[in-house]
Formats: sequence, C-alpha cells, structure tokens
Amino acid sequence: MDEVFGLFPTPVLRAGGAVPPALVAELAAHFDAAPAQANAASDQLVHTRLLRPEDSPLLPQLVALLTPKIEDMGALMFGQRLGWAIKEMWVNRMGQGGHQAMHHHANSFVSGVLYLTEVDAAAQTVFSKPVGGTEFVFRHQHAQVASTPFNADRWVCPATAPGDLLLFPSYLLHAVPPNPGGRRITLSFNAIPGGLDAWGYAIRFGA
Ligand SMILES: [Fe+2]
Repeated sequence: MDEVFGLFPTPVLRAGGAVPPALVAELAAHFDAAPAQANAASDQLVHTRLLRPEDSPLLPQLVALLTPKIEDMGALMFGQRLGWAIKEMWVNRMGQGGHQAMHHHANSFVSGVLYLTEVDAAAQTVFSKPVGGTEFVFRHQHAQVASTPFNADRWVCPATAPGDLLLFPSYLLHAVPPNPGGRRITLSFNAIPGGLDAWGYAIRFGA
C-alpha cells in the first residue's frame, strides 16, 4: 500500500458558530456605525481603530468566547494549553469592489477573523505560501495541471457564515480578493501567549 505523508502541516482552525447570532448582530450593528479609516489600497475598505475592551460592553463577552478557541489553536501550534491574551482587535468594513491586499500580522502568534456578515463566495479569505525570495523559480502551471495539496500556492477558506471564526498562525500571508457581493464586515484580532519555554530558555510576552 502506498502512503503519502503531508509533512509539517500548518493549522488553520475554522470554528463554525463560535459566536451566537444575537451577539454577532449586535457587534455588526455597533461597529457598522463606528468611525473608521480608509485602507491604503482599497477605497471600498475601512478599518476601525484598534479597539479596547472598554470601547463596548459587547467586547468582554466576545473575548470570553474567543479565548478558549485561541487556546485550542495554541495547543496545536505549541503542544500545550498556554494562557493566551487578545492583544488588539479591530473591525473591517468592505463594500462591493473592495479588497484586502496580501499581508501578515507582525508581533503576534495567532490571528483571527470573526465573520459578522455573509461573505460572497469570491471574497472568502485566501491564504498564500510565502512569495518572493532571491532564487530562480521553476513552476509547472497551465490549464491541464491539477491542483494538489503539494503544488497549490493558495488556499481559499470554505464558505463562512456570520459567527464563524477563523484562526491561523500570524505569519501566514492572507488577503481578500475583490468583493463582488454586498457589505462584508469582519472583526480581526491578534493574540499572544503569556510566554514560551524551550527547556528553560523562556521568554514572556505582554501587550
Ligand atoms: Fe489580516
């Protein structure tokens, strides 16, 4: 029997219905009206400033729901349930035609997206392998080439519903393709563990 091993996989955790509909609706309504700044690359995308828990009574409830999921994700990444803290969170509002350029999140270990509205199938979050480098690149890509887990250089998140949560390692490149659908509202955040310990070589993190 042949066996194929996918070596060193990367965890991306999707938690369906992580936040109940009533809280999702309140968050969407509250932050749909919050002041926001334009995205540098898309005039149909705005971001609120970084939010503090005291900005809305909805946020402590939300943090209490998100934190156990972040701990689950952290256990996959580091092999132990560590104490985790959400370091910053913000809301993204995207209109029709908006997009989010490829990026990753610095100074963070687990990043997340909570979907507050429906998302058009063409505007799901997309993850990419690292791009660039300083060596020549060889590829085999044309219409007859099948996509496999080993040759694909991007992964599109399966359909999401309001209240679904997506968690991923903060170093992963991600983007939102041009949105042909309606208003797309998400809440993003970054989280850090209290510390890491490599056989006594320990480091602590604080916001
Ligand atoms: Fe992001």
